[in-house]
Amino acid sequence: MESTITAAQTIMERCEILSHYSEEPDRLTRRFASPALSQTKEAVAGWMQAAGMSVQYDAIGNLIGRYEAEVPGAKTFLLGSHLDTVRDAGKYDGPLGVLTALACVERLHQQQRRLSFALEVLAFADEEGLRYHTAYLGSKAMTGTFPPRLLSFIDADGISMREAIRTSGGTPDPQLLQTPHWQPDELIGYCEVHIEQGPTLEAHNLPVGIVSAISGQNRFSIDFVGQAGHAGTVPMELRRDALSVAAVFILTVETLARGTPGLVATIGQLSVQPGASNVIPGQVTLSLDVRHQDDTIREQACQRIYEQAKALSEQRNIRLHWQELQEDASIACNPHLIQLLERAIQEEGYPLHILPSGAGHDGVILSKLTPVAMLFIRCRGGISHHPAESVKVEDVAIAMRVVERFLSLLA
Ligand code: GLV
Ligand code: MN
Ligand code: MN
Ligand code: MN
Repeated sequence: MESTITAAQTIMERCEILSHYSEEPDRLTRRFASPALSQTKEAVAGWMQAAGMSVQYDAIGNLIGRYEAEVPGAKTFLLGSHLDTVRDAGKYDGPLGVLTALACVERLHQQQRRLSFALEVLAFADEEGLRYHTAYLGSKAMTGTFPPRLLSFIDADGISMREAIRTSGGTPDPQLLQTPHWQPDELIGYCEVHIEQGPTLEAHNLPVGIVSAISGQNRFSIDFVGQAGHAGTVPMELRRDALSVAAVFILTVETLARGTPGLVATIGQLSVQPGASNVIPGQVTLSLDVRHQDDTIREQACQRIYEQAKALSEQRNIRLHWQELQEDASIACNPHLIQLLERAIQEEGYPLHILPSGAGHDGVILSKLTPVAMLFIRCRGGISHHPAESVKVEDVAIAMRVVERFLSLLA
């Protein structure tokens, strides 16, 4: 059997290969249900089959590779992550977790070994929510918690989610999307390997860490609607400038988040209409993402932000359209699975470090069905959602060994 460092090199090479499946020529962008995502899934499916797995796609386009247990009828343990990306992404957020899981199965297959439980490697079709501004579409469909109203959401090109699923070979049938892929008693749990996306492990000089909990999050789409008009003729006091209100709103959100420990709030997308230098902005549409480990604090913050938006709009005679696209509560990782990860890390000879995740992960949704755990890998400078994402092959090899040990402790 090949060494874990050789296997980790293969993982890195595969991350590199997948990074070329992009919707944009000069940067990595892979939205839900895009041709680039289909190419990525095909490549991963091929590697899964070569590793002795049977391969299947579900209604929304998640890829599922299954490696049977030594005896039929045994329970299943889930591993995996997502294959979609943000815009101008790095190579590792998502694919690294899928490919590390795949490599663990590949090594079992090389040894002609099976475990007392089946393994499924899940490659989720949408975790980032780039295309429809609502995250976790893949895991929501897989757990049967997909809200059918999402099928009518429209992307930037006017393509509905229903149409996008159909075009990419899926089946946008609400009933299928609301049917869980497993019954809870068929499952043992889910474990995801992911880059940390923050600087903590690097600061502690540790290759891996265990996730305690994943923050809850809300996403909103907000429109400020004023009146477009001539930039040269409409006096300042008679204007209803949507962008001026949006600008005040953006700073209000920042001030509120800065004043609330642990709260993060981000406006990452802004569209100004009609968008000309000599036209007063008539409408601004912006995204808002709000997160906190404590759901009550997050909910209160969202309410206060909404009230501020309303007050600002009223002051300036602007119409406000406020739409909540997503709300997911925070989750705690499973204490028993955490204990097994702790043992695995200690037996590999590394100190323990437990940390919360401010980033969202499919485990949030999987937790509705089965116990979840996450293993973070140190990344350079804590950088992610950026092309400069970087991990060391040695750390990936350590993560693989930890997962292998974890699986044998579970058996
Ligand atoms: C996904 O990476 C998210 O946390 O938004
Ligand atoms: Mn991400
Ligand atoms: Mn991710
Ligand atoms: Mn709500």
